[in-house]
Formats: sequence, C-alpha cells, structure tokens
Amino acid sequence: MNTEGERLQKVLARLGFGSRRLCEELIADERVTVDGEVAVLGCRVDVETALVEVDGAPVGIRPDLVYYLLNKPAGVITTADDPQGRPTVVQIVPDEPRVFPVGRLDADTEGLLLLTNDGELTHRLTHPSFGVEKEYLTQVKGEPSRAEVRLLREGVELDDGPTARARVTLVEPTLMRIMIHEGRNRQVRRMCEAVGHPVVRLVRTRIGPIVDRRLRPGDWRALARDEVRELEVATGAGKPVGRPGPDR
Ligand code: URA
Repeated sequence: MNTEGERLQKVLARLGFGSRRLCEELIADERVTVDGEVAVLGCRVDVETALVEVDGAPVGIRPDLVYYLLNKPAGVITTADDPQGRPTVVQIVPDEPRVFPVGRLDADTEGLLLLTNDGELTHRLTHPSFGVEKEYLTQVKGEPSRAEVRLLREGVELDDGPTARARVTLVEPTLMRIMIHEGRNRQVRRMCEAVGHPVVRLVRTRIGPIVDRRLRPGDWRALARDEVRELEVATGAGKPVGRPGPDR
C-alpha cells in the first residue's frame, strides 16, 4: 500500500467531487480506481503519477497531458492544418506532443484559446450539455439600445434556432461583455447582427474559470495545475458525459 501522497478522499474533495464524506462514499461504493485497481478507503495517492478514475473517467493530471492557453491574434486560423497554408494556432505552440484546439475561434476573433492533447477534457469543454461559459468583449457598429441588450440576454432568433439566455452588459456605448454557454458557429457575431449591430472586434476574455489579462496576443503559456483542476470541476469530471450533475 502506498504510504506517500494524499488521502484519496481528500484529493477527490479538492477536485470538486463533493464533501470529504461524499468522497468516502464514492470510494466505499467502488466507483473509484487508482491505476486501474478499485480503490480502498484511506489509500494514499500521488496525484503527479497516479491515474485516478471515477466511474471510469480520469481525474487529476497525467504527466503525458499538456494544456496551453494561447492569446490568439486576429488572422490566425483555429485548425490543426490549413490546406490553404494560412498561419494556424498549432504553429504557435510546441510541436510535441501534438495538441489540438479546444473548440474554435473565427479567423478574425482574438483572445483566449485552449490547446491540449487531453481528448476527454476537450470533449467535456465542447459538449453542449456541460455548458461552460465563455466571455467575449464585443465591439459593435452603432450603439445598442437597452431593448436590444435585453433581446441579446433573453435570446435572439438565428437561422439554426433561438439562442439560450446570455449574460450581457454594456461596458461602453459600443462595447458589450457577452457571456454565452453555447458554442454555435459564429454565435456572438450572428447574435449581434440579429439585433442590428454587426461586430467590429471580438475578443474572448474568459473560458469558464480561465482568465489571463497579461498574456499578450500571440503569446501562450502552460496552464497551472490548479487551472486544469478548475476546468475539470467546471466540466464535472467524473460525471458521465451527456448527463451533467444536478448543479447545472
Ligand atoms: N462567437 C463568434 O461569433 N465567433 C467566435 O470566434 C467565437 C464566438
């Protein structure tokens, strides 16, 4: 038995699986495995090296997984490979291990973009049922009225259906902060166009819990371990995909 590391129930509680007691129940119910073995109450794990899974979904951080946060400049394409040879986001970050963008930003959109080789987290971050909120600073043409801002909040009709409720604040007469938890194609641009104010400049400033006001356009950094954990908590890691927890 491993005598190093932290008690498993404490690790799980920190990762957002509920109180220490609830985490003990998860272990007692044999829903937790460490390196493929059903975990026993009181066991200790080294989160740096152990593969901890709840209901078969990995939690914690594996050393082979990398997570980058990029401040995408305008004009760079969100794809792993552009047949037209335009500059892509993956060219900005290290080649090895190979990473993929999490979702996409339009060529003209700037701001925060995650790239990773963690397919599980990518799936959870892009799966609509998890609804991770993204925030955009949105410069528009003309000055949206209060009624138009309300419309954006309550939902506007797009050609692929109405948008869900959004959080929208007017920062300046032509600048809005728009927070959406859907990830439809060109959604913010289409929403603004639908209320008569086409987007002039669009910058993503937050992905769920992840913000960085100091990262300059074109720069990237690795996510801190705590940030990866926060993303896992935000996407309900350990809960089966397609069935978000009761708190969402
Ligand atoms: N909404 C858009 O319209 N474009 C993006 O790149 C992201 C969100």
